[in-house]
Amino acid sequence: MKPRILVLYYTQTGQLRQILDSVVSGITDQVDIDYAPIQPVTPFPFPWTALQFFDAMPETVEHLPVPVKHIPENIVNTKYDLIIFGYQPWFLNPSQPTTAFLQSADTKVFKDTPVITVVGCRNMWLHAQEKVKGYLQDAGARLVGNIVLTDTNTNLISLLTVIRWSFKGQKAASGMLPAAGVQDVDIQQANRFAPVIYKHLQQDNLIDLHRDLLSVGAVQLNTGLVVLEQTGIRNFRKWAKFIREKGGPGDPNRAGRVLLFKNLLLVAIFILSPISSLKAAITRLVKRSALLKDVAYFKEVQYEKGRL
Ligand SMILES: Cc1cc2nc3c(=O)[nH]c(=O)nc-3n(C[C@H](O)[C@H](O)[C@H](O)COP(=O)(O)O)c2cc1C
Repeated sequence: MKPRILVLYYTQTGQLRQILDSVVSGITDQVDIDYAPIQPVTPFPFPWTALQFFDAMPETVEHLPVPVKHIPENIVNTKYDLIIFGYQPWFLNPSQPTTAFLQSADTKVFKDTPVITVVGCRNMWLHAQEKVKGYLQDAGARLVGNIVLTDTNTNLISLLTVIRWSFKGQKAASGMLPAAGVQDVDIQQANRFAPVIYKHLQQDNLIDLHRDLLSVGAVQLNTGLVVLEQTGIRNFRKWAKFIREKGGPGDPNRAGRVLLFKNLLLVAIFILSPISSLKAAITRLVKRSALLKDVAYFKEVQYEKGRL
């Protein structure tokens, strides 16, 4: 019998589905695949207005997501050999639809099942992955692999292109700026993971899978990202609380604080970034050995609560 795989995912623009299609593209004849998209009851806007975009931050950070539709009952009740779970970070946490699914009763499908997470994002995914690891553990899943695809342009370029993509809906290159999101060539080359996954499924040995995925470049990570996420998540938590004091999602009473958050974030990123880069470089030097241990941990699939 062919191995049975469930590809379970949320995507707003379709990018993550493209990535997942590439990840399984080489093995679609050798395995039986079901697809289950996660769908919010009310879809998020796309393109976003700046207010809508930043207004999504507090509930994303506090894990108070909008509700999602159930996935089909027959899928929830099937015992899969492997679940490939695709998601994206929003504000350093799993996107709201992802969190909503992970908090739902449909996570029954994960029970005693090996899971590979596939992340498609700009470039900050560590804290989100820690949260997903925690939810998967609670659901009784066994995380056996992680594949991360990021936009490999510099931080500032990828920020400019993600802003153009989110607020104008334009992913394609324009002017001096390249296309937004994960590079097409990286999406295509994600097909290199398929034979690795299949080999392990065939041998019924998923324990060593992540080691082999790492050997073909499933996760790229440096100490700079750890420092950046540590600082970022602390600030986001404070701002989330501050904004929510004025009301829930879309409440006009909180619009002033949401826009203040947006403006300060953009100032921090675009104007203060030389200062924060210098601070981060000093932290990387001073805490080098602890950060190298962090990098080794975040590349792996084990979960230690509270690492970030
Ligand atoms: C509201 C919002 C917040 C985001 N925050 C992050 C983030 O914290 N880190 C990151 O690397 N990418 C972030 N992104 C980019 C997404 O992770 C993702 O790459 C992009 O939205 C495309 O994914 P899709 O498959 O859902 O279309 C964010 C996107 C949105 C819409």
